[in-house]
Amino acid sequence: MSQIREDYKQLIELANAARRYSYAPYSKYPVGAALRTKSGRVHMGVNIENAAYTTGICAERVAIFKAVSEGEHDFEVIAVVTDNGGSPCGACRQVLSEFGLDTVVLIADGKGTLLKETTVGKLLPEAFLPNHVQK
Ligand code: THU
Repeated sequence: MSQIREDYKQLIELANAARRYSYAPYSKYPVGAALRTKSGRVHMGVNIENAAYTTGICAERVAIFKAVSEGEHDFEVIAVVTDNGGSPCGACRQVLSEFGLDTVVLIADGKGTLLKETTVGKLLPEAFLPNHVQK
C-alpha cells in the first residue's frame, strides 16, 4: 500500500504497542487493537487468554467493550495488529457490525505494515443486524 494516512499509521502504532500487554500464554499470538471513535478517543485492546481456553477474548472485542462501557458507540476506525497480519475473527466481525458497517478496519503486521484497509461491511456481508430484532 503506497500512501498511508498519517492518522492510520499512528493508530496502527498504538495497536502494535498495545500488544505488549497481550495475555497469550497458550497461543503465544499477541494481538493488539486500537479503536478510534468519532469523538476522537482511542480505546485499546489486547487478547486475553485463559486456562479454560474458551473463556478467552480477542483484542478487538476488548477494545469495543471498553469503548461501549464508556458511552462510545460511534466508531470510525479500528486497527488490528498481529505478527503476521491475521484478520479479525467472525465473532469480532459480528460485534463490530452492531455498531456500523462503515467502520474502517486496518489490518497490519508486527512491523506496522498496513496489509489491508477494508470495512466491517466488506468483512461481514449479509450480517445479522440490530434491525432484525428491533421492533
Ligand atoms: N485473536 C484475536 O485477538 N483477534 C482475532 O480476531 C483473532 C484471534 C486471538 C485469540 C487468541 O488469544 C489468539 O489470537 C489465537 O487465536
